Amino acid sequence: HWSHVPAAPPDSILGIASLYRNDPEKKKLNLSVGAYRDDNGNPAVLRVVRKVEQEPAPDHEYIPMAGIPSFCQAAVQLILGEKAQSIKEKRVVTVQSLSGTGALRVGAEFLCQFYRPAATTEKPCVYIPRPSWGNHRKVFQSAGLKVSEYKYFDPVSCDVDAKGLLDDLTNIPSQSIIVLHACAHNPTGADPSKQLWKQILQVVIQKQHLVFFDSAYQGFASGDLEKDAFAVRMFEQSGIEMLIAQSFAKNMGLYGERVGALSFVCKDSSVVASVQSQLETIIRSMYSSPPANGARIASRILNNPVLFEEWKQELLEMSGRIQEMRKLLFEALVSRKTPGDWSHITKQIGMFSFTGLNVEQVRYLREKYHIYMTEDGRASMAGLSRETVPLFADGIHDAVLQ
Ligand code: LMR
Repeated sequence: HWSHVPAAPPDSILGIASLYRNDPEKKKLNLSVGAYRDDNGNPAVLRVVRKVEQEPAPDHEYIPMAGIPSFCQAAVQLILGEKAQSIKEKRVVTVQSLSGTGALRVGAEFLCQFYRPAATTEKPCVYIPRPSWGNHRKVFQSAGLKVSEYKYFDPVSCDVDAKGLLDDLTNIPSQSIIVLHACAHNPTGADPSKQLWKQILQVVIQKQHLVFFDSAYQGFASGDLEKDAFAVRMFEQSGIEMLIAQSFAKNMGLYGERVGALSFVCKDSSVVASVQSQLETIIRSMYSSPPANGARIASRILNNPVLFEEWKQELLEMSGRIQEMRKLLFEALVSRKTPGDWSHITKQIGMFSFTGLNVEQVRYLREKYHIYMTEDGRASMAGLSRETVPLFADGIHDAVLQ
């Protein structure tokens, strides 16, 4: 039956992770997928998560299609802030999702079915930054949406291309769907300044674009939950409608538990029941209802002030360790007199460094040093440790001299 089926190209991120797994070399180093490691290079379970896990699940019944209500409520309060006007006015819909990817996908299905920009009769188009997370395009395309890009990164300054970005958002059709990374842009680690966020918001309002925020790193990027929610909250305060995808993979270390939320901030509470019912219909046909375990853990942490404080402490530890790795890597390259300006390594924020290495250099590192990073030159800083920084710096030094 399947002889005509062509092999799919490997995933740009998870494909590299699987090459790593198949490498028999003992001293290999995985800097491909964004997953936090402790200073011994081991996967880390948060202490607060372990604590909550001591109490077994009350049962293994199905949870509602929209997920656990106490989780959904706490998740949206976390991103919008407890005093958010839209929450007070009961014009927000939140459903639990299979982490950030699932939130994006369910949101995309909804947009494909129901988003009808008045300005055009064409299928709605989603604009993602260039570059963006390797899976964004596929998630939106699979749901049937057209995908295009807006300028985001300037490789010369290693920073956000503010002019290019604002020009593109101004010149694309009105009422387009715009994906914005809430903080710690993946893969570049370069975020808009507060001033630039304000300008982006002005263009969004002027052009009536529909914003879809992807928030995968709240609290994990800077160690501060409020700071990492700045852009989303500013947009919410302006009164516009928007969608938000939240992931608890990184900030709670619940990667494989698939814990996330999708929120619709609506203009009016009168649409809430219909939006919620259609989201439930989409969820039911895709996977019926979400898994319970991870959301139960997250809900307990988010809803208990003592556990919440413990979690905040661990966020500081994780983000602090990543910042330390950035500093050590930068110093190691400077001390080796590796050609090039490496200051972007410490300027960028979040899990990744967009090193500037080209695809040949990335492959060289993989083949000679068994160091795995994505072919766009992105390296997970969270995968480094004090012990492996010198090895990575040696590899980069060698690769740029080739
Ligand atoms: C990444 O960008 O490496 C992570 O978000 C993991 C993933 O699913 O790609």
